[in-house]
Amino acid sequence: MSLPRYAFFQGRVVPYSEARVGVLTHGLNYGTGVFSGIRGYWNADEHELFVFRPDDHYRRFLESARMIGMQLPLDSCQLTSALVDLLRREGFREDCYVRSLAFYADETVGVRLHDLTPEISIVSIPYGRYIEKEEGAHATISSWRRVDDNAIPARGKIVGAYVNSALAKSEAMRAGFDEAIVLNRDGHISEGSAANFFLVRNGVVLTPPITDNILEGITRRTVIELLGRELGRTVVERSIDRSEIYVADEAFFVGTGVQIVAATRVDHRPIGTGRIGPIAEALRKLYFDVVRGRRPDYRQWCAPVYAGAAALAEVTSAPR
Ligand SMILES: Cc1ncc(COP(=O)(O)O)c(C=O)c1O
Repeated sequence: MSLPRYAFFQGRVVPYSEARVGVLTHGLNYGTGVFSGIRGYWNADEHELFVFRPDDHYRRFLESARMIGMQLPLDSCQLTSALVDLLRREGFREDCYVRSLAFYADETVGVRLHDLTPEISIVSIPYGRYIEKEEGAHATISSWRRVDDNAIPARGKIVGAYVNSALAKSEAMRAGFDEAIVLNRDGHISEGSAANFFLVRNGVVLTPPITDNILEGITRRTVIELLGRELGRTVVERSIDRSEIYVADEAFFVGTGVQIVAATRVDHRPIGTGRIGPIAEALRKLYFDVVRGRRPDYRQWCAPVYAGAAALAEVTSAPR
């Protein structure tokens, strides 16, 4: 992976090499931070880079910060504008991933969440697939349980909680699988290592409720809306037992990173026919059209980087 050329750091865009922290930084030592992952999709026909749902991602980012009592100096509009600024400097003409991070920047010792100062960074890199086998992944039920909301807030993207995701992901990959399915403390399906989870049984699309310790995923929300409005499938949000996977017709992961990944085998058992099913296939096609700005009815979710920035410059340079 090549490093970014620029970073938004300490309130402005600087060369990436200047965005540095000391080894005593609180967020680095104790995981006291929150983050967000957003994708940018290049639309070659329009010569435009579309960032998908930045405002929704930044609203969750700010909510995650509130969960750990962190007060940030920027709102979601200001964060989006910093992101657009950064992406213009990077000048990508390809798909990319944007990582925003708010962390306690104090170089000090002491486990706590009070009397500390947050810092925000945003960087971006060109990005392709997160899971190679998007059309047919082999998943396993993890031996690790999803972090409980009463241990570390599960609905937010809290940095320290990602040790839980990493344990599940590495265990799965080292055993030869592509992805993990993580159960919650009650033994119900929670989600993937860094993705929400759906299954289809007897024509009904199911997904775990937020209260089963899942992250409040933006892609999950997108998928629920697209399935309902475009594919005529109302999604039922309810707790899902482990054994329901084994008799499912389809299963898929959704998330900014994974996008839409069909799980066609779980623990060596085929799901449905063992090949990507019709709902996951239709959803993938629709999703990629939507995120690339090819569906006018969903363009409000796609923030244009270059035209948007030009329009912004025109407005700000206009005589008052
Ligand atoms: C633990 C976890 N669950 C679910 C998701 C999917 O969330 P989103 O669709 O907002 O990217 C992510 C995203 O990275 C995640 O880290």
